[in-house]
Order: sequence, then structure tokens, then C-alpha cells
Amino acid sequence: MNQPDIKSICEQAIKQMRQDEKPKSSCVIDGYFVKKTSKNELDCAKFARRQGVPTPEPCRCPESEEDGTVYISFGHIPGKNLEEIYRRDFNNEKRLNDKTRLMFKKAAEILANIHSKTNEYKGCCDEQFKIEREEEEMKNKLCKIKSVNLPSKYQDLVECAEKMILEIIKNIFSDGDVVFHHGDYKLDNIIVNSDDDLVIVDWEGAGWGSRWYDIAYLLADIDTHSSTEAQKILRHYMSEAHLEKDVEDRFRYARIYQEIIRIHSNVDGRNDEQFNVGLKNLKRLVSGIGDSNP
Ligand SMILES: Nc1ncnc2c1ncn2[C@@H]1O[C@H](COP(=O)(O)OP(=O)(O)O)[C@@H](O)[C@H]1O
Ligand SMILES: [Mg+2]
Repeated sequence: MNQPDIKSICEQAIKQMRQDEKPKSSCVIDGYFVKKTSKNELDCAKFARRQGVPTPEPCRCPESEEDGTVYISFGHIPGKNLEEIYRRDFNNEKRLNDKTRLMFKKAAEILANIHSKTNEYKGCCDEQFKIEREEEEMKNKLCKIKSVNLPSKYQDLVECAEKMILEIIKNIFSDGDVVFHHGDYKLDNIIVNSDDDLVIVDWEGAGWGSRWYDIAYLLADIDTHSSTEAQKILRHYMSEAHLEKDVEDRFRYARIYQEIIRIHSNVDGRNDEQFNVGLKNLKRLVSGIGDSNP
């Protein structure tokens, strides 16, 4: 079989992306998923693949832009993403189907494996993790949230989260928890292929970060529906990552952190439903912190 001509596939894809009225950042051509992204995604996707993480092979397109934007072609994975699968379950019976639960456990295993590559990652990256930067960013986000007119029942909530911010940051970014992380381990970045194997995509935000950040993203939707289901998968992750039970509370802090991000990204009316889900979850999490049975 002829080697596919990546150069011509990239050219076609880029032309198509630019042609659209609203320029797109990705498209599929002849079995390739071509994406306009950052050099970091290329580096991290390559690194993850070298380490044996199931992820499509990345290949840099010859065209790139001066601001560090690159085009990458990935093998296109036919299948559904985990979000579509999970929604079907919760629409039907408000609990995870056994097969879906297994998929989440598999996603948790892959995540523990990604995080275990931290030492190997050290050798190939010079960007250092700075806790002060996280703190600053979180404070700015809370400031912006406070500047909008929140429903009265949520007004004290943001103050309360703000008071907790140092504790939250300290708990998420503790020693041993800053690892090579995926950075956007959401359900739509986990593809289930035709053999029911999982393939992880979208490494744009990968690099140094917190293991709890990734696990909070993986479990956010389940935790909103059923914290019991989320706990089962969390325990599986912890056992795969060889973590003791006494650090489990950090997941709650990471969920608070993540809900602040959710509220902040929808503060401008982009998605009112998500904004309200964020506030509701934040309220539940802030009042539940420290409970042994959340
Ligand atoms: N190699 C791939 N094969 C099949 N589908 C993909 C592939 N890469 C991404 N996707 C799908 O396209 C969506 C958008 O791609 P992604 O890389 O996540 O971009 P974004 O940074 O915009 O989220 C993903 O959520 C996933 O469902
Ligand atoms: Mg994505």
C-alpha cells in the first residue's frame, strides 16, 4: 500500500479549515484528523505516545505560523467519545451501566499511567511549574465571578471559596501531586474505538500540573449525578497510582477548583446552564469539605 501523502493531506485540510466562513481549528481528511494547535500539543502527544499511552500518532504538517501555532495530523479514530456513552446511561437509568463503569475504570488506569511518566517527562521539558501562578490565576477568576450579579443564594459562596483558596491550592498541588498531567481529561477527549479500547486525544494543555486536576475532570459529570459512582472510580485510580486513602479528600478540593473554572468560563453568558451547574456544585462541595462521607 502506498504511504499516505501527509503533505498533501495537510494542504487539503488547511485549505478546508481556512475556507469555512467561520474558520475551524480541525477537520478530517482521508482518515486523518488535522488540527491547528500549539507546539506544546505536538511535543506532549509525541512524548505520551513514546511512553506507550494509547493516543493517535501525531505528525507535524510542514505549514506553521510564526506565533508558534502548528498544524498536526493525527490518525483519525472512528468511534464514540466517552461523553456520548455516559450521557446515554444517565438519561436512561441514573446509574452507570456496568460496561460504561468498566470504561471509566480503564480511563482511570490510563490516567494513573500518564501520571507515572513524570520522571521521564522531567528530562524533556524546561517549563517549570509555579504554584504562585496558579494562585494568582484563581484569585483573578474569583474576582471576575464576584463582579457579576450572582443570584442572592450564591452571594456568600464565592467569598467562602475565596477564603479557602490557599487551602485548595495547597491540597491540589502538594508534593507528589504535581506530575506530568493531561490537562484536559474531559470525557470528549477520550475516544472509545470499535474494539472498545480507549484512545486519548487533545494534549494541548498537557505538561506540569496536578494529578487531582485530571481526575476531577474525568469524574466531574459523574460526580454531579452520583458521588457514589464517582468514588468507585476514584478508588480505582488511587489503587492504580498507589496512593493511600488519606489523600482522598484532595479530590474534593480539585472539584472545587474545577467548578470555579467552570463558573468563570461561563460568566459572560456563554452557557447559562453550565454556569448554574457550576454554582450548584460549588455550593455542595464547599459545604461538604472535610466530611468523611461526602
Ligand atoms: N484523532 C482523532 N480521531 C477522532 N476524533 C478525534 C481525534 N482527535 C480529536 N477528535 C475528536 O474531535 C474533538 C475535538 O478535538 P480536540 O483535539 O479535543 O480539540 P479541542 O482542543 O478543540 O478540544 C475531540 O473532542 C474528539 O471527540
Ligand atoms: Mg478537546
